[in-house]
This record gives sequence, C-alpha cells and structure tokens, in this order.
Amino acid sequence: MPTPSHLVQNYRRAAIRFVRGQGSRLYDADGKGYLDAFAGVAVSSLGYGHPKLVEAIARQAAAVTHVSNYYTIDQQEELATALVAASFPGRVLFCNSGTEANECAFKVARLWANQVHGGTKPRMLSFHGGFHGRTMGSLAVTSNAAYRTPFAPLAECDFIPFNDVAALEAAITDQIAAVWVEPVQGEGGVIPAAPGFLARLRELCDRHHVLVVADEVQTGLTRCGSYFAHQQDGITPDLMPLAKGLGGGVPIGACVMSERCADLLKPGLHGTTFGGNPLACAAGLVVAEETLTPVMAAQVIARGEQLRAGLATVFPEALAIRGRGLLVGVQLPTDPAPLITKARDLGLIVGPAANNTVRLAPPLIITAPEIDEICGILAKARA
Ligand SMILES: Cc1ncc(COP(=O)(O)O)c(C=O)c1O
Repeated sequence: MPTPSHLVQNYRRAAIRFVRGQGSRLYDADGKGYLDAFAGVAVSSLGYGHPKLVEAIARQAAAVTHVSNYYTIDQQEELATALVAASFPGRVLFCNSGTEANECAFKVARLWANQVHGGTKPRMLSFHGGFHGRTMGSLAVTSNAAYRTPFAPLAECDFIPFNDVAALEAAITDQIAAVWVEPVQGEGGVIPAAPGFLARLRELCDRHHVLVVADEVQTGLTRCGSYFAHQQDGITPDLMPLAKGLGGGVPIGACVMSERCADLLKPGLHGTTFGGNPLACAAGLVVAEETLTPVMAAQVIARGEQLRAGLATVFPEALAIRGRGLLVGVQLPTDPAPLITKARDLGLIVGPAANNTVRLAPPLIITAPEIDEICGILAKARA
C-alpha cells in the first residue's frame, strides 16, 4: 500500500489483501486461504472463479462492455424476463447498486403520491433496524441515527418497531406513500419478519393505497432459500429493489416493479448511464440461471439448516440464532468483534450486524463439509 494513502478514510479496513478466490475460498497476498462465510457482504453467491460466470464475463467483455441506455440491450431484456418470471408480473429498471435500486423505488413512491394521489401522501414508512442504502433517498428510509443525523435534513419518514403489528396498524394511514421492509433485516441483526407480519402489512397497505417496497437487496436471488424471501410470507410487493448477489460480484442493481408502478416512469423521468450494461447483465444472467432453480433453493435450505444446527452447538450461550436459508445471524451476549477477528486469523471470514450479531452469508454453492468447517473454526475461535 502506498504511504500515505490517497483514499478517503471512510472505511475501517483490515490490513489484509485478497488477491484471488476459488469456490468458497479466498487467498491473500501471502497465499493464506480463508473460507468465506460472508461472500463480500452477501454478494458472491456463486463463489469465486465460477467457470460459467468467468466465461460469460470474458465473452461479453470481448464483444462489447457498454453501450448506454440510448440503445436496445438484449441482455437487459433477457435478465428482466428471468427476474419477472421468478418473482411477480411487472417490469424491471436496472441500475448499479442497492442504494440506487431503493432510490428508484423512492422516486416511484413520489410519483405515486404526487401524480396518482394529488400530493396527499407526503410521508414514507420504515422500520427500526431497517437498512436501505446511503444515498439521500435511501438514507431517509434507513433507521440508524449514526448514518442519518450528520446528513439532515432528510425526506420525511416515520419509523416503527419491526414485527410490531399494533404499531403497524397505527402507522399505516392514507398519508403514507410507501412502506419499506426487508423480509429479513440484514444489517439490523438478521431478523426475519415474524409469521403473518408481512401479510398484515400488505393488507393494510392495500386498504390505504400504500406501496409495499420489499427490499431484497440482501435477501433476494435464493439467498434465503426461496427465489425471493417475501415469497415465504405469501405476499406480492409493488416494488422490489435488488443488487448484491445479482451480479455475482459485478456491480448491478435492479428494481422490479408492478405494471402500475412501471407505468408512472415515463421516458425521461429516471435514468442512469451504466445501469444494466451488457457486461453487468451478462453476469446477472448467469447468476439468475444458476440460482433461480428449485435445486439451488433446496440446497440453500439444507445448508442453512445444517449451519444453524452447527452454530447452536458452538454457541450454547447465544441469545438467538436467526435467519432464513444462508443468511444467518448469531446474537451473542457480548460484542462479537474479537471473535470475528480471531476467526479471520484462523482462516474464516464472517461479518458483523447490529445487536452483537455475527452474520453469516456464505456463497450459495457452499458444500456440507465446508459448513462443518465453518462451525469447527468458530468453535476454535471462541475457545
Ligand atoms: C437491504 C439492503 N438494502 C440496500 C443496501 C444498499 O446496497 P448498496 O451498498 O449496494 O448501495 C444494502 C446493503 O447492505 C442492504 O442490505
């Protein structure tokens, strides 16, 4: 690393340089291997060096990388078709990140309020612990005060406790344009929606003409054992921001939306230069092909159950072991930061989440022996 660094110091980075990866393993500059149970924050769903992904990226890079959204991009059409087929009837707008996908949903919510409801819906609704990104619209619906306060003023948003039906019933009124919800809160501590909570939310939103934004940036693309996590709650959202796993490591975001939402975005109202370029969509198509299958969903459920059972043995003192599929959190009585560092020294990558939670989100291709290995290393790390 050059000294002094010319990078903005907005991240607390570990002094570790990963230079290559294979399967579910990363290797640092000294050749040390690490089993990766975090996948670059739930991004590298197909792991590293996946032959189909590598081949598709190389082929597309050689053909054409970028053309701009002034032109027809077949790869976008194909990927949109795959995403809609696996989720709900509607259309897709491509962008580059999770925050942009939520930003798109925010703009649709404003159009819904202003054009359809004559400005009578000035407020958004979100949940304590909810995380939707760092740009100004997405930040407005993100609850963490440390992220928000320095950037005030933000757009109006009400926050209520997650999984609290009484609070939900009181908060959803005709003044609300849209409600933002993660079917499993990721950053907030890997907290799944309680049974029936999202169904009640959908019912109230229908009654008060409120759009439901199911933020599946972290939970989507089979991470939770169904193609999209909200499918386990038996609801259909109006908008579904996606990113993270969608490109298997290539930056791409998407906002899937119902026809009535898509109709609001007339030409010129929203756009992005890079969003859904041929390279990103070529990667997304491989991820969609590999992850949106019943076989992958069954595998994720099985590996997730194995992981939770193993973690319960390793951490008998855990306050909770939560999650769905391969998005798993272990809530400990104390700050897990030293454990996370020790695990890394022992060759295992896991991540943090709020409320003293260790977050695990390994590649979806992780094997049963590797799940045992994760638990074995964590057992040593806590010893
Ligand atoms: C649920 C959710 N929404 C949005 C985002 C923001 O995504 P990005 O960091 O790609 O902007 C994240 C990132 O962690 C997320 O977990």
